[in-house]
Amino acid sequence: MEKKDDQFEEFFKTLPQKHACGSLFAQYKGFWFDGAFLHGVITFYNHFEAHNSDIILATIPKAGTTWLKALTFSIVNRKKYSIPDSPLLFNNPHLLVPFLEASLYNKGKVPNVKSIPSPRIFATHIPLQCLPNTILGNSSCRIIYLCRNPLDLFTSSIHFLIQNGLFPQEPESMDGAFESFCEGIFQYGPFWDHMLGYWEASIKDSNKVLFLKYEDLKRDINSFVKKIAEFMGYGFSQLEEDEGMVEQVAKLCSLETLKYLDCNNKGGSSHSVIKVAFRSFFRKGKVGDWANFLTPTMAKRLEDLMKEKFKDTGLTL
Ligand code: A3P
Repeated sequence: MEKKDDQFEEFFKTLPQKHACGSLFAQYKGFWFDGAFLHGVITFYNHFEAHNSDIILATIPKAGTTWLKALTFSIVNRKKYSIPDSPLLFNNPHLLVPFLEASLYNKGKVPNVKSIPSPRIFATHIPLQCLPNTILGNSSCRIIYLCRNPLDLFTSSIHFLIQNGLFPQEPESMDGAFESFCEGIFQYGPFWDHMLGYWEASIKDSNKVLFLKYEDLKRDINSFVKKIAEFMGYGFSQLEEDEGMVEQVAKLCSLETLKYLDCNNKGGSSHSVIKVAFRSFFRKGKVGDWANFLTPTMAKRLEDLMKEKFKDTGLTL
């Protein structure tokens, strides 16, 4: 399904639509997308060809995408660049690992990604249910999914939107945004179907999909640096482990390091669907920060929703 700009506009009009959080969302294959993002989702679906060596980083927004980009980039490139020379010290992680629908294929662009040296690392927020067959069936490329507790996810999303001037000013907006989040009408929502799509795929084939939780990485990052490296086929040698390479990678990619770098405090993404400040990707990075933001009633509502949606799936967050 090839869609030029005006064709896309026409197509967009045929989809169920809802306003939420100051944006117009359309429902496509069961998920809610902002129009600008959906255009990229469809163009990507139609044109992308996966290579067996590709690594796809998948997240729902604010689950820790920036961290996962930094980690995978530095693990894969650790022999090419020593830690003090790492491009991560001079570039925002989003410039080193591009988003598929939101950057490379945004607004219907079809980029030349064939010549990117392998392994190509790409990031996406697209739910598994909307990924093309070239990723799911026809290639042995690998997917790393990073999940996060929905209470922190919502909290982080609202701070991000406010910081970038993308959240509506009206006092009732917060209640409206929370309601939309619980109804699943949020960027790339419903969050439960997003998470369950990758969760079930990881159970079916753990060589294809590595399912990670933000909270686990916060608890024991060194073990997860090793796990991610092994999954990608870039495991650490005993010598590297003895020399402390795992810890060095973890430290380089930590919020404490990245947050204070010049490259992450100036500028922002200009070639993406939305213009956002690089600094807005680095906030507190705390597990449970929702307690400073959500009322007990909101927290209970979300927890009950999670219980209902994740019941009998084995997924706990
Ligand atoms: P908080 O808003 O809770 O602080 P994303 O990268 O998907 O947009 O997610 C952003 C969230 O990840 C923010 O969470 C941000 O602070 C946190 N984050 C960014 N870089 C991180 C890092 N290196 N380590 C841990 N958390 C990080």
